[in-house]
Amino acid sequence: MNESFSLRAVPFRNRVFVASGTFGYGDEVAELVDLDELGGILTKSLSLKPRDGNPPPRITETASGMLNSIGLANIGVHKFIAEKIPKLESYSCAVIANIAASSVEEYCSVLELLDPLKRVDGFEINVSCPNVKEGGLSFGTDLAKVALITKELRKRTQKPLIIKLTPNVTHISEFARAAEAEGADAVSVINTLIGMAVNINTRKPRISTTTGGLSGPAIKPVALAKVYEVHKSVKIPIIGVGGISTWEDAVEFFLVGASAVQVGTANFINPAIGIGIAKGIAQYCERNSIDDVAELVGSLRADTKLSVIQSWL
Ligand code: SIN
Repeated sequence: MNESFSLRAVPFRNRVFVASGTFGYGDEVAELVDLDELGGILTKSLSLKPRDGNPPPRITETASGMLNSIGLANIGVHKFIAEKIPKLESYSCAVIANIAASSVEEYCSVLELLDPLKRVDGFEINVSCPNVKEGGLSFGTDLAKVALITKELRKRTQKPLIIKLTPNVTHISEFARAAEAEGADAVSVINTLIGMAVNINTRKPRISTTTGGLSGPAIKPVALAKVYEVHKSVKIPIIGVGGISTWEDAVEFFLVGASAVQVGTANFINPAIGIGIAKGIAQYCERNSIDDVAELVGSLRADTKLSVIQSWL
């Protein structure tokens, strides 16, 4: 049974990745989990300079979900190269560097620093963080900016370039098309949904920035619908992300059009969950005489004549 996947000839052992921001830079988690059993690791978003992120409280639990407003806290690209890359050298699993920035120039500078490194297999570009005033959603909700960022980064790398899209727009498919037109190799669908939680005793928001990004099982139905919409609109692969915590969830994402998946919030409960999900997918395929996970991708049996999304694409 073939569970592998590739982008621009970069091979991934299987189609289960760990989502940015839920697995650090990989090295800390390596003590608990065999990284080489994963399809790949998406690093925490890297910016040019280190960032402290937003003040606490910046995480709160909600019904079937997690609300975060980390604010892109990270060690900065230079420290990542000096301290984290050497620790990842002994693993063979793919490392995809996630990049966040507050200007087009900053995206380019970070990518140019990482691109020559053998241990960096590709890039996921965060144009969708809902927790910062500069960059983040102000880019991800602007079609021209998504196109420009993709175009500028495409010129600077031959490695896989993945654009991580926000669901906080009317038609995510328009953004996927803009990324595809400017040379993206894939899109990650979706980043978090803007959400709020309130403490009724203090009458204060439960996180310092008032709103945050909602993730976890609560958003899986939204993520599935967005992947379905994007699958109807572009030819490049879609990496489905949003509330996946079981292998059955992952199979749902393949059926609606994802070529690979990322496990995010569930890593906070069990950092080895992605490995279990990859095994569950393989067993499901064997039980159903499926020779290649690719056979599942987009194989949903829906009546497209009755599909509402289909009618406005
Ligand atoms: C954050 O650092 O605030 C979360 C990252 C994101 O949602 O892209």
